[in-house]
Amino acid sequence: MQNLINKAVEILRSGGLVGIPTETVYGLGADARNPEALKKIFAAKQRPIDHPLIVHLADASQLSEWAVDISDSAVILAKHFWPGPLTLILKKAPHVSDLVTGGQDTIGLRVPSHPVAHALLQTFGSGIAAPSANRFGRISPTTAEAVREELGDAVDLVLDGGACEVGVESTIVDVTTDEPVILRPGMITATQISEVLKKSIAAKKKDAPRVSGSLETHYAPVTKTSLVNSKNISAFLQNLKTEDFPVALLIREKLNVPELVETVLMSENPKQYAHDLYHVMRGLDKKKFKQIIIEEVPDDSEWDAIRDRLTRAASSENLKRN
Ligand code: TXA
Ligand code: MG
Repeated sequence: MQNLINKAVEILRSGGLVGIPTETVYGLGADARNPEALKKIFAAKQRPIDHPLIVHLADASQLSEWAVDISDSAVILAKHFWPGPLTLILKKAPHVSDLVTGGQDTIGLRVPSHPVAHALLQTFGSGIAAPSANRFGRISPTTAEAVREELGDAVDLVLDGGACEVGVESTIVDVTTDEPVILRPGMITATQISEVLKKSIAAKKKDAPRVSGSLETHYAPVTKTSLVNSKNISAFLQNLKTEDFPVALLIREKLNVPELVETVLMSENPKQYAHDLYHVMRGLDKKKFKQIIIEEVPDDSEWDAIRDRLTRAASSENLKRN
């Protein structure tokens, strides 16, 4: 692997793009200090140019190279959760490119725990900007194969670090103010964060910094997707018309279903569920179902990230059918 990592570093130094395994999802990495390389990210993903990128670092000691006015909350969260699936939004250092920040005065920073990402960052020695390695608006890749499927030749090298352990994108916390705000839920929950900070976490406000994952249609499968409460699944299936089949059904407990319904039994454990979700959705998307029906998940904070991604997947329905 070290040979491949050296090759990846060469590619990054010469302004190319590398597919990077992280513990959350695969990233599409470029040298965060090279504007030409950053532009390639937006082209490869077909992502609007004003959507900010997360800069990945080898360890928290590099924070001050990228951010200023680092709050106590930021220091505490970094100490507690890094390396790991948490992104901190901080005031940017003066040198940081507008291509990274989307023209805002803040920057998203994260120290990933995946050993391959870590080795790459350490060898590279600077920040790597990396959005999820999917085309804009599509499901994030959780395997190297999925990255190649999404981006093909637009990426110079994909480092294969196996299936991502967490499976959904990092929790994003804005720590630029006294009251931290969660901008995107992830598997590090609001409850965990407020326990560590010993204070409550503010809800996201309308004028909070832009998070592209917050667009309604993000994380969307191509197939029409509906979220249905457990109690209503049988009735929902019964009300489908012949032309609505075949359907795929994601549930957490076995259920007797009509013919032409392919059941995917998901885990009752949110960690396992998150780990499997994008891989399952990607697989189902290829199978030409008329629709995907997903059982709603519990209300507790451990399920926040999953509920968020499922809601987005289902909300794309109207747009996608136009
Ligand atoms: O788990 C993850 O966070 C993955 C892996 C590869 O690290 N990355 C990821 O990147 O999900 P991306 O670009 O798909 O989503 C990052 C989100 C975007 O929605 C972006 O808008 C937000 O982070 N973001 C980045 N910088 C920001 C900033 N300065 N203010 C507010 N949001 C920011
Ligand atoms: Mg993304």
